[in-house]
Amino acid sequence: MSSVDSQRRVVSGMRPTGRLHLGHYHGVLKNWVRLQHEYECFFFVADWHAMTTEYEHPQSLSANVWDMLIDWLAVGINPGSATLFIQSKVPEQAELHLLLSMLTPQSWLERVPSYKDKQSLLRESEGLTYGLLGYPLLQAADILTYRAGLVPVGADQVAHIEMARELARRFNHLYGREAGFEDNARLALKKLGKKTGKLYKELRKDFLSQGNGDALLTAQALVREQASLTLADQERLIGYLEGIGRSILPEPQVMLAPMAKMPGLDGEKMSNSSANTIPLRAEPDEVSQQIRTMRTDPARVRLSDPGNPDVCPVWQFHRVYSDDAIQQRVQSACRGGQWGCLECKQPVIDAIVAEQEPIRARAFQYQQEPDLLRSLIADGTDKARDAARATLDELREAMGLSYR
Ligand code: TRP
Ligand code: SF4
Repeated sequence: MSSVDSQRRVVSGMRPTGRLHLGHYHGVLKNWVRLQHEYECFFFVADWHAMTTEYEHPQSLSANVWDMLIDWLAVGINPGSATLFIQSKVPEQAELHLLLSMLTPQSWLERVPSYKDKQSLLRESEGLTYGLLGYPLLQAADILTYRAGLVPVGADQVAHIEMARELARRFNHLYGREAGFEDNARLALKKLGKKTGKLYKELRKDFLSQGNGDALLTAQALVREQASLTLADQERLIGYLEGIGRSILPEPQVMLAPMAKMPGLDGEKMSNSSANTIPLRAEPDEVSQQIRTMRTDPARVRLSDPGNPDVCPVWQFHRVYSDDAIQQRVQSACRGGQWGCLECKQPVIDAIVAEQEPIRARAFQYQQEPDLLRSLIADGTDKARDAARATLDELREAMGLSYR
């Protein structure tokens, strides 16, 4: 039985889109940097996921992968704290994808919103592939391979994580039976103590007889809080809640990032598809140029024209980058027509350049030392594979594929 504490384990991946921009930094990477100190983190480059749509253009893949990894390291993701690797270097994830495909109803995949979106986009071409249909299944395999309980992702990924939960549940239901399960579960139940044991039984009954999903969640949390129980007993009690068997694959949960919405140069969300990005590794001149040519309140023609920060994308940047004093100064000087827009933009330029300076410097170092970079990722891959092998050994066994 596994000895993984899934509630402390985090997995997340990113498709290699080449060099990242400030939206990635403020929306995702800063959060990863925080998480790496609090959890056991596995962060990987989802190169197979990139192939689901880019299979016709493999030329840029490798450069994109290394560039993205350099960005991760440059922002402070520390290979000593987090395990960093490339998805396709862990073939166990592909094996789990295949094994899970046996028990995945086709209809589950067809109803995932991201697939339906793509379907309407690609209806005209021959672009709909088996790989694209299986995208969320591969993602579930990514997560379940490491038995991660927590998956930091954006709101657009929630449906995918939900599918991973359903697959874990289905897997446990099909393969989680162990000889003497009921007896073992009852023994574990005794260890809960009188009061907690009673609460557990009530919640279990609420769920089993009335389908009360909240009761299930509460009971799962209750079991996980019992630090004195072994992980094996926790898994039994969690499995017993649903009347199945032990829980072999823990059900992962979304961990929504406390995302600072990063505005783009046009005031909309910063994203590659909107061409409104500032690269993470931009040179100071480039930043200055990009901010200086940004649109402002169109009502301001002359310096003395009063403006309105609410309709100006530069104000969005002040909200991310400026302290209260500067923000107040912007408000009054803009509305009072006392400041030229270029003057107003300068603190933003300075703040971004200052933020990027150490990032650029570290990225430069890694660019100079490709061997170091490759060896860091090779180490991460080794660690990831060890964890993946342990899971797959157990899953093969549960599925009757161990041939001993
Ligand atoms: N689909 C995710 C995205 O587009 C990337 C991803 C792949 C991922 N595998 C994952 C995220 C596993 C979290 C966990 O953003
Ligand atoms: Fe925007 Fe600043 Fe110009 Fe006002 S002064 S319109 S906030 S750039």
